[in-house]
Amino acid sequence: MTTNLKLNGRATRFSSDPDTPLLYVLRNEGRLNGAKFGCGMGQCGACTVIVDGEAVFSCLAPLATLEGRSVRTVESLGTATAPGPLQAAFIRHQAAQCGYCIAGMLMRAQALLDRIPQPTDQQIREHMEPNLCRCGTHTRIFAAIKDVANGGNP
Ligand code: FES
Ligand code: FES
Repeated sequence: MTTNLKLNGRATRFSSDPDTPLLYVLRNEGRLNGAKFGCGMGQCGACTVIVDGEAVFSCLAPLATLEGRSVRTVESLGTATAPGPLQAAFIRHQAAQCGYCIAGMLMRAQALLDRIPQPTDQQIREHMEPNLCRCGTHTRIFAAIKDVANGGNP
């Protein structure tokens, strides 16, 4: 059985078992290693991707639920040599320490900025609440998101 979805703008077909969580499908079959396994239980956000505009824990999303849907991963935001605006802001604010949570943080933040380009401080805090950073860089992550919300003016 195959599952068809749009992955980072491209029609993509996966043959993994439909019960397989999207996180494993992306990493093993899709060769996209940006999304990370942190807890596998919906408690950390390291695996966050965007599905049809919403931030989703990919560790909890079986492939079968994604037929015909649109999935974006951190790889869609930019590259190491050409980072996108949100990635560039994270770099400017040195938001990453070990970096393990950052792909998930970026995707959760991007989902907010796509929906609300200039969110309030409270909207940012509430939206980012499900994602955890064990290194404690939340204030820098917040500053990076604010930077983009302010049009690149910190
Ligand atoms: S790995 Fe998915 S929420 Fe932690
Ligand atoms: S930078 Fe290490 S977990 Fe967030």
